Amino acid sequence: MLRTVALLLALAGSCQPQFAPPRVNISLDDGAEVRWTPLLKVFDVEYLRKAAATIIDSTVPKWVHHAFIPVVNALEKYVPQPYAAELRGMASQLGGSLSDIIILNFAYEVSAFCTSVVAQDQSGNVYHGRNLDYPHPVLKNLTIDVVFLKNGTVAYRGTSFAGYVGLWTGQSPHKFTVSGDQRGTEHWWNWWKNVVSAFLFHRSPVSWLVRETLEEAEDFQDAVMRLSKTPIITGVYYIVGGVRPGEGVVITRDRSGPADIWPLEPVNGGWFRVETNFDHWLPAPPSDHRREAANKALNATGQDHINMNSLYHVLSLSPVCNGITVYTTVMSAASPQNYTTVVRTKDCIDGA
Ligand SMILES: *[C@@H]1O[C@H](CO)[C@@H](O)[C@H](O)[C@H]1NC(C)=O
Ligand SMILES: *[C@@H]1O[C@H](CO)[C@@H](O)[C@H](O)[C@H]1NC(C)=O
Ligand SMILES: *[C@@H]1O[C@H](CO)[C@@H](O)[C@H](O)[C@H]1NC(C)=O
Ligand SMILES: *[C@@H]1O[C@H](CO)[C@@H](O)[C@H](O)[C@H]1NC(C)=O
Ligand SMILES: *[C@@H]1O[C@H](CO)[C@@H](O)[C@H](O)[C@H]1NC(C)=O
Repeated sequence: MLRTVALLLALAGSCQPQFAPPRVNISLDDGAEVRWTPLLKVFDVEYLRKAAATIIDSTVPKWVHHAFIPVVNALEKYVPQPYAAELRGMASQLGGSLSDIIILNFAYEVSAFCTSVVAQDQSGNVYHGRNLDYPHPVLKNLTIDVVFLKNGTVAYRGTSFAGYVGLWTGQSPHKFTVSGDQRGTEHWWNWWKNVVSAFLFHRSPVSWLVRETLEEAEDFQDAVMRLSKTPIITGVYYIVGGVRPGEGVVITRDRSGPADIWPLEPVNGGWFRVETNFDHWLPAPPSDHRREAANKALNATGQDHINMNSLYHVLSLSPVCNGITVYTTVMSAASPQNYTTVVRTKDCIDGA
């Protein structure tokens, strides 16, 4: 894996060096209230507190704090386990207020712009890559690779932000990989609707469903079924890669179920699928060239040259990679040890 990172660094050629995020081991055998304690080995509490305050101040109006008092007072009634206990534990370890931790977890829920790609090479190997874009530079310093262990072995892993219990990117070893991209143009000031939906209608936040699926699904098929059908708080795109030829799909989600399922079709030339933040059957807005640029770059790469490094290269090209890209992850469930995340620091490549 170190060698992969070195290769990726060499490939991207940058002025400011991008970096691999810190890795945190979380043991699922530990109680939910204490399992995030290893964060404190990697992050300074004071820094985390300041970062959280910055994000909250710039995304959440003051009155929302008041709206949260009933939720905080009856957390376990509204929020399912293990998340309620993890949030409670995180608040007590970070010395922050519980309502701020909850608000932070929902503030991230609505603003993730992204590009995801799933692709298959000529031998049938499946690769999955994603850029996570979020208009807040402090997230670069909060990005972590989290390895969830059960009985000392890796149950699943993902890339996240310190203080956040959900996953937008993850891998169940030798089974499948998942990424989530925001669907549509839901504005942040509507985010409280998601909270109402979550707490009153018991719908899952989209990033919690990713984590649950990584934890519970038996294989690619099972993962696709769960990610398609489980009610969630808002629309989203789930991109899933498997371990066998043809195991790649973009699921377009409504709150209650799938709006569309778009699988790889390698026999008909559909050896890759690109998803940004728009329904794939509709044109992207004229001002947004990410989808077009990624399609063009993948065509130019060709199925005989696609691999984790060339996929990383596609995700490094402007405007697929852009000023607000926080991190890039490339992964392949059949080679779980090659999971690689790079935090971007103004190192996108011009001239796509
Ligand atoms: C995380 O767990 C792995 C075993 O899966 C171990 O090799 C590694 O040293 C651990 N890292 C830390 C920072 O504890
Ligand atoms: C991130 O951390 C680096 C090094 O500690 C620091 O120089 C930089 O200002 C931080 N960026 C933000 C946005 O906090
Ligand atoms: C945990 O791991 C140990 C040693 O690797 C093994 O003997 C034991 O059966 C495992 N327990 C469970 C519940 O899987
Ligand atoms: C990529 O190639 C396919 C098949 O040759 C073609 O239909 C599509 O228009 C190309 N896309 C771009 C963006 O060049
Ligand atoms: C995983 O990494 C190893 C060592 O760098 C490399 O030999 C192998 O080709 C990689 N596998 C994939 C699927 O990229």
